[in-house]
Amino acid sequence: FQVPTPINEPILAYASGSKEREQLQNKLAELRAKQIDIPMYIGGKSVQGAQKVAMTCPHDHQHVLGHYYEGGKKEVGQAIDAALAAHAAWSATPWERRAAIFLKAAELSATKYRMDLNARTMLGQSKNAFQAEIDAACEWVDFLRFNVHYASQIYADQPISSPGVWNRVEYRALEGFVYALTPFNFTAIAGNLPAAPALMGNTVVWKPSPSQVYSAGLLMDILTEAGLPAGVINLVFADGPEAGDVVFNHRDFAGVHFTGSTAVFQTIWKNIGNNISNYKSYPRIVGETGGKDFVVAHPSAEPKALAVAIIRGAFEYQGQKCSAASRAYVPASLWSQVEAYLKEDLAAIRMGGTEDFGNFVNAVIDAKAFAKISGFIADAKQDADVSVVAGGHCDDSKGYFVEPTVLLTNNPKSRTMVEEIFGPVLTVYVYPDAEWNQTLKLVDETSAYALTGAIFAQDSYALEEAKAALVNAAGNLYLNDKCTGAVVGQQPFGGARASGTNDKAGSYLNLLRWVSPRTVKEVF
Ligand code: ALA
Repeated sequence: FQVPTPINEPILAYASGSKEREQLQNKLAELRAKQIDIPMYIGGKSVQGAQKVAMTCPHDHQHVLGHYYEGGKKEVGQAIDAALAAHAAWSATPWERRAAIFLKAAELSATKYRMDLNARTMLGQSKNAFQAEIDAACEWVDFLRFNVHYASQIYADQPISSPGVWNRVEYRALEGFVYALTPFNFTAIAGNLPAAPALMGNTVVWKPSPSQVYSAGLLMDILTEAGLPAGVINLVFADGPEAGDVVFNHRDFAGVHFTGSTAVFQTIWKNIGNNISNYKSYPRIVGETGGKDFVVAHPSAEPKALAVAIIRGAFEYQGQKCSAASRAYVPASLWSQVEAYLKEDLAAIRMGGTEDFGNFVNAVIDAKAFAKISGFIADAKQDADVSVVAGGHCDDSKGYFVEPTVLLTNNPKSRTMVEEIFGPVLTVYVYPDAEWNQTLKLVDETSAYALTGAIFAQDSYALEEAKAALVNAAGNLYLNDKCTGAVVGQQPFGGARASGTNDKAGSYLNLLRWVSPRTVKEVF
């Protein structure tokens, strides 16, 4: 059957004086004036764990937004049992009914809960209004709508038959439960990791990042209001390794849908490997991990466009997108112009809380991230090969604020050019114009990660050279555009090497990982 043609949810501008700005401001004020308790949600029931944890606002860390109640092995076990109990009915539910539930969740998110989703993302994850809107409203809604569209294509893909023989493929759910381990940095990704396998008929145990529980609780409420049956997605809060002990030792573990750090993903993979003979089936391992995303400029690049792409790519959401630019290669002939633009634009950028819509930069997520990023900047200041072009100041007295920081290095293999920082820090290496080809080789050699990258050139032959030289260095390559902001349905997202399994979020490639097809031949 035909599903609705998906459209990308239009982005609201929240212009000064607009109705939507007023609604969002009211919602922010309402949320700041109260505290919300977020329970776990297991088998359709609210469950409170033993340990009360405060959720605080990253840009105002003394402000408590509410609490959640962390559980442990017991609750993770209960969530697995609930997922397994719901499996038979859910996997047998007609696919159009499953699709209808997720399409309803999309509409609820785009309308009734849009301001709440955005406000929670702004307060709990310190995203400004625009960054929250493109994530918690648009990307989340897009995932829901486009997943239904791609799923319909998967189900429609059938083998040929002949007179007297009917061949068909049934796209069954995986046998067992799926574990969704989700990140703080995108509300949309946190929601999609459990939602995509669930759409394909799977039942899920979902453990969000502790820093995203504030908006995760609302995603769960929306899915429930949309009609998701009890036990299909079970939301648990628990320590990662403790939960992993239960999940990866379980015979019915059928797959993990992960976004987070490379180190954690590798630990998960090893755990799964160690248990491989215990499982009923080989589990699906789908992960999007780190990045050290590049911007490479050719001497023909347009300097102003390049500077804007660097600033937006590196500093929107404080550099905490896995797609964020964190190293740039600029030809010597362009550097003085690019440097001047970067300094001028960064001097005009405002940093502060998300409630003030004029702030482009907000806080990094928590004390641990602040310590890591500020430590990195302090080390860079001690490094004889590195100098500070702009920023470099860090202050966690009220919120976890790190100034957008541009570093310059004469060592293209220095720590700051190769290690993931996951904060608002970008390092520039200036190369001699004549060394364009060597520079492309260098970029590839130093790309242990391979998530996103951007090439800037007005010479289209140079774009082709870069595309060829960097064929495996990025899963999402942008030509003359910033390297962040992939849109569902337009730029399927994901990378290989240390960046993940490249199963392209928001595409049929991802959904295919959540089915186990059965081929049926019937002879008449
Ligand atoms: N859609 C997000 C980006 O590309 C992940 O930045």
